[in-house]
This record gives sequence, structure tokens and C-alpha cells, in this order.
Amino acid sequence: MDKLVIKGGNPLRGRLHVGGSKNTALPLMAAALLGDGVSTIHNMPVLQDVYTFANVLRVTGARVEFRPDFDANTPDTLVVDASSINHFEAPYDLVKQMRASFYMLGALLGRCGQARVSLPGGCAWGPRPVDLHLKGMEALGANIEMDQGYVVAEAPEGGLHGAHIRFEPSSVGATINVMLAASTANGTTVLDNAAAEPDVVVFGEMLQAMGAKVSGLGTTTITIEGVDKLSPVEFNNCPDRIELGTYMIAAAIATPAGEELVITGAEPDHLGDDFLNAFRKTGVPFEIDGDTVTVTGVETIQPVSITTSPYPGFPTDLQAQWSVMMTQANGASSITETVYSDRFKHIPELNRMGAACRVDDHVVMVQGKNGTALQGTNVMSTDLRASVSLVLAGLIAEGETHVLRVYHLDRGYENLEGKLAGAGIDVRREEYQE
Ligand code: EPZ
Repeated sequence: MDKLVIKGGNPLRGRLHVGGSKNTALPLMAAALLGDGVSTIHNMPVLQDVYTFANVLRVTGARVEFRPDFDANTPDTLVVDASSINHFEAPYDLVKQMRASFYMLGALLGRCGQARVSLPGGCAWGPRPVDLHLKGMEALGANIEMDQGYVVAEAPEGGLHGAHIRFEPSSVGATINVMLAASTANGTTVLDNAAAEPDVVVFGEMLQAMGAKVSGLGTTTITIEGVDKLSPVEFNNCPDRIELGTYMIAAAIATPAGEELVITGAEPDHLGDDFLNAFRKTGVPFEIDGDTVTVTGVETIQPVSITTSPYPGFPTDLQAQWSVMMTQANGASSITETVYSDRFKHIPELNRMGAACRVDDHVVMVQGKNGTALQGTNVMSTDLRASVSLVLAGLIAEGETHVLRVYHLDRGYENLEGKLAGAGIDVRREEYQE
């Protein structure tokens, strides 16, 4: 198993490049299954989750090539040949590795009218239900049965039909999954309280490019007018907004006052106003110029309390990273998580490094120390964003921080240690035994 060993205190300066969005890449791969031919997707991140989902697609009979394996000239291109789909299943041993495999339910129903998909497990911070996905499919006319931990879904004679569906709460995954199935249903589907995240918008734009009739993307009401079939397409994935936010926070805590970190290949609008406004309130200056965000280090970070909520609210996937930034702020702040019930597994680890955070139900109170360094030690990753928050803490901690179980990190950050080392950080990957 791997860990990252970070020697704290080096200044973070120079340039960091943002890769393709993980949470958009996965639904784009599911959409490719709807096209009866060869689809090509560019700007794909080279991440474990993409390799896992490629294996999920291969189970159906689709041919999938991911160019980092053999073509250095197009390192970020993925090709899906979905000409012949002959197996309508997403098996447990793959779905358990990655919850987004559950998109196969909508993709197989939309393409073939049937699906047998393993229920995804929970994760470190909660049960992660899929009731909204299943209710949506039933509303489209699918017959849903449970069989030994699998969802068995079948469209009625004549195929799925349009429906008027309301999601409560707003759900990125359920919105995407139902759009996959509704794109080829008979008639019109209206989704109320639909997710407006950029991941959903870009995914919807790929469906449109494939011939789907989708409107309302980026709003909470999405309308899909079913078409007979979708065509394969060549499409570009968008940059990863969570990677961008993570690097902006890294600069705030580890770039020396007056020096700059230049973040390239970004799409700042995808962060949403709440995050950008909160970041401005910390007093850490940043300039946006097209796809480049330049952050300037400061002496003092102002404490700013935040509450996560669906887009354009503060992204829950940046909540853990923000708590690290607030440990370095000049005063107290609160971090309220409204999307998940218990996404604070990183807090005990940060407190072991000397942070002063207290969890009270779904709120974390952080007593900032105005730049007082944390102490490096062994810390345990529990999920992707908790893991990266511990790496951020390691950047500024005294001594060495050993971030264990970085397989969590590898799911969502491509070559993070290489990128950070290129911007001045003393970080190495090491194998270890638990
Ligand atoms: C997506 O997860 C992302 N994952 C998550 O990012 C992200 O945190 C989340 O959206 C919220 O933005 C991917 O895109 C692969 P949801 P998803 O359905 O779709 C409840 C990361 O770190 N809910 O929007 O699973 C659910 O419990 C990951 O990259 C139901 O109640 O999230 C949660 O409280 C972590 N019933 C809320 O909705 C359902 O059927 C939002 O979840 C589905 C969800």
C-alpha cells in the first residue's frame, strides 16, 4: 500500500495544471454507451476511477481504449466503441470499487431497455442511498426488482415513457442517471429540483451533441424530449473544479506573502459564486484570466465561515480542504455541511496534527492560529477529499507528515505528488505495510 511523505515548510510557488474533471468524466463515459458506435472523449484524467469505469463498460461488450496506456501523443483520450452491447450487467466487484458505476442503470436502460446493476455500497461518511435513482426509473415505467444485492430493471413493452419527476434532496447522481434513461424514452421527461452542477451541464451537453433533446441545463428544471437513438460523438471533458479549488486553498496556506501560484487549465466559473466569494473574504488575492487563476500569498488569512450546498453553493467536495485553510486563519470560523450527514472524518486527523477543531453534529468549529504551523505525524486517509486535506496540512506542518492509504487520493487527483513537487514541495510516494 502507498503513502505520501511530505516535509512541511517549503514554499508552494510557480505553476500547477488542472486536469480533466473526474466527476464529469464518469458520466461522459456512461453517455458513450448510449451511442451505437465509436465515441471519443478528450481531456480525461488518468485516475483509478476512470480505469475502473472502463472495466465496467467492457463487461457490457463495449470496447474501451484509454490512450495513456499506449499513445503518448494523446494522453488524455478515451475511446468507447459501443456498437455491440450484449451483456446488460454491472457486477458487484466493480460497482463496490466506485459508486458512479451505478450510472450503468440509466445507461443500459436507455440503450437496451434492461439492466442488472449491483447496488453501490456506502462510504466513509454515510449510507449514500440510491432511492431517488430507483424512483426516477420507476417513474419512467421501468420495472425494478431487487435480487441478491442487485437492481434488476426492465423497460415495459414499447419502451420507457416520459415522466414528471421531482428530486428531494437535489442529487447529482440521480439527475444524471435519470437523464441517461430518459434520453431515449417515448415522450417528454421533466426533472424538478434537478442538479445544476457543472458536471451535469457538461454531461447534458454531450447528450445534446449525441442528438438528445435536453433543455434547462444549469437550472433546477431540466426537460428531456426522448429520441429514438443517440449517435456516437467526439467530445471534450471540462477541467476539474474541485482540483482548482484545492490548489487555490493550497496557495492560500503555502505560497509565501507576495509570491504567486499560477493555476492553469482551469474553468473558474465551475466553482460557483459561494466559493469564490468566500475565498475573496479571506483576503487572499486571486486574479482570473481565462483558464488561468493566479493566487498571491498573504501574511494573514481572515476567518470565513461557510455552509455547503448544491451548486452554485459552496461545494461539499471542498469542505475538508477549507477546514485546513481555516486552521491557519486569524480567528474562529465554522464549517457547516448540509449535503452529507457526517463528512468530517478528516477532523480527528487534523487535530492530531495540532489543529483546534470541534465537531458538533453537522458543524465544525475551527479555532484558527494565524499561520502557526501544525505538527507532522502519521495520518490516515478515509476518503478522497479527506485525504487531500491531510496533504494540504502536510504542506505547512513542521516535520514530516505521512499520509497513509493514498489509494483514496489516487481516485481523484492525477499525479498530485508530481505536480506539487514541480511547484517546490518536498513530497515522495513510499510503499508501506499496515
Ligand atoms: C456526486 O455524488 C459526486 N460524485 C460527489 O463527489 C459529490 O460530493 C456529490 O455529487 C455532491 O455534489 C460523483 O460525481 C462521482 P448526490 P452523488 O446524489 O451523485 C442524497 C467526490 O469527492 N441522496 O448529489 O452520489 C445523498 O445521500 C465525490 O468527488 C439521496 O438521499 O451525490 C446526499 O445527501 C464524493 N438519495 C445528497 O443526496 C439518492 O438516491 C447529494 O448526493 C441519491 C442521493
